[in-house]
Amino acid sequence: MAKQLIVNLFEMATPGHITHGLWRQPDNQRERYADISYWTELAQVAEAAGFDAIFLADVVGAYDVYDDSFEPALERGLQIPNIDPLLLVAAMAAVTEHVGFGVTFSTTYEPPFAFARRMATLDHLTRGRVGWNIVTSYLPNAARNFGLDDQIPHDTRYEIAAEYIDVLYKLWEGSWDDDAVVADKEVGTYSRVGAVRAIDHVGTHFRVKGPHLSEPSRQRVPLLFQASASKAGIAFAAQHAEVLFTADRPPGALERNIAAIRDESVRRGRLPEDTRYVVMATVIVAPTEEEARAKYEGYRTFRDPEGAFIHMSVPFHPLQHPADITVREALEREGRQDVIDAGGLPLHLTVGQFAGAVDEAWDSRFLAVGSPEQVADTIERWLDVDGIDGINLRQYHSFDTARDFGELVVPELRRRGRMRVAYTPGETLRERIFGEGPRLPERHPAARYRGGANL
Ligand SMILES: Cc1cc2nc3c(=O)[nH]c(=O)nc-3n(C[C@H](O)[C@H](O)[C@H](O)COP(=O)(O)O)c2cc1C
Repeated sequence: MAKQLIVNLFEMATPGHITHGLWRQPDNQRERYADISYWTELAQVAEAAGFDAIFLADVVGAYDVYDDSFEPALERGLQIPNIDPLLLVAAMAAVTEHVGFGVTFSTTYEPPFAFARRMATLDHLTRGRVGWNIVTSYLPNAARNFGLDDQIPHDTRYEIAAEYIDVLYKLWEGSWDDDAVVADKEVGTYSRVGAVRAIDHVGTHFRVKGPHLSEPSRQRVPLLFQASASKAGIAFAAQHAEVLFTADRPPGALERNIAAIRDESVRRGRLPEDTRYVVMATVIVAPTEEEARAKYEGYRTFRDPEGAFIHMSVPFHPLQHPADITVREALEREGRQDVIDAGGLPLHLTVGQFAGAVDEAWDSRFLAVGSPEQVADTIERWLDVDGIDGINLRQYHSFDTARDFGELVVPELRRRGRMRVAYTPGETLRERIFGEGPRLPERHPAARYRGGANL
C-alpha cells in the first residue's frame, strides 16, 4: 500500500510564529490568537479538513539576541505576545471529536510532577488525542525568567530531560495499575488499595515521591514528538520520541538524518517502524497553478526579512551592511569580536550569501506551490523519494492555509490513496499514527515501569 501522509497544522498561540510579517495581511486572523473562539474555530477547520493533529509550538522567553534586545521581536509580534498552549487544548477538544493535538512543553524549567498531572488531564479530556513535543528550550531569555543567570549548557539540558522523562514514565505507567479504579458505590471503594503506588524517585535533578495524582488515561503517555539536530538531542530522540521533526540541514542531509535517528533507535531496541519523520512544509494551492503563484506572491509582499534574523538569534544586522562584505567584516564593523571568537557563524560567507541562506531556510526544500494535482505530485515525491512520513503545515494565512489544504489538496491525496478517507471513530492519536494500540509498545523504555516494576 502507498505510504499515507501524516498532516499536522503548525500553530503557535502568538501573532507571528514562523511566517514573519504575514500577520499583517488585512484578513489574516492572527491577532485573534488570545480569543478562545480563534482556537475553537481553528480546531473545527482542521477537523473538517482531515488533519491528523494541530501542533502547537511554544517558547517561554523572548527573542533578545538580535539587536541585544527583545524590542525587535516585540514590535513585530514575533512569538511575543504569546499565551500558554496547554490551556487551549481543552477548549479545542470540546468542539471536536477526532483531530489530535501536539503541545510543546520544556523539560528545563518546571519540575515533572505537575506536568505529569497536566498532561494526564489533557489525555483524559481529549480521550487520548494529545501529544507532547519535548523541548529543552533554546532561548537565553527563558533561562533568566526561571531564576538562572544564563542557559544551562546544551548537553546538560538533555541529561535533565532524560531524568525528567523517566520520572514521567514512572508516574504515567508505573504508579497506577489498569484496574486500580473500581468506583464501587456499594462497597465505597473508589480506587483499590495496592493497585496504586508511590514511585519514590530520587535522582540527580528530581525527587518525586508519588503516587501520581491522575488515574490512567487512554494513552497514559502522550504521543511523543521531538525535533532534534544535535548528537545529544538525537540520542534522546532515538530512545524516546515517536514522531520526529527532521531538518534538511545541511541541505541534502535529510535522508542521512532520518537514517541516523532510525538506526540509533534500533540500536536501542526499538523497531524501524516505531519512529515517523515529519518536516515543516509550505503548501500554497489554488485551482490553477497561475492562481497559486499569484497567491504565493501576494503573501510574500508581506514578508518581513528581518524576522528571520531575529528568530534565528543572529547576533548582528545583515541588512545594514553591503551585501558583498564578509560576515567577519560585518561583525568587525559592529565591534562584535566576541561573536567572532565564539565561533558558530559562517564568517567566510558574504553578508548577501548569509542573508540569502537564512531567508531560504524558511521556505527551502519542502515548498509546493501549484494546482491540487501539482501539489499532490510534489507531496508524493516527498513521501516516496525524500522518505518523509508527514508534514507540519506552515500557515501563511489563518485560516485560508488550512481551508485550502482541506478543500483542494486532501481530496486529491485521498483519491491517490495518500490520506485516510475518514477518521476512525474513537481512536487515540497514537493509534492514528501507528495503528497498534493506544499505549506505547512493550519495547519502549516507558513500558519497563508497568505494574510497578523497576521503580
Ligand atoms: C519543526 C520544529 C519545531 C520546533 N518547535 C520548538 C518549540 O516550539 N519550542 C522550542 O523551544 N523549540 C522548538 N524547536 C527546537 C528543537 O526543540 C531543538 O532545540 C532544535 O531542533 C535543535 O536541536 P537540539 O536541541 O538537538 O540542538 C523546534 C524545532 C523544529 C525543527
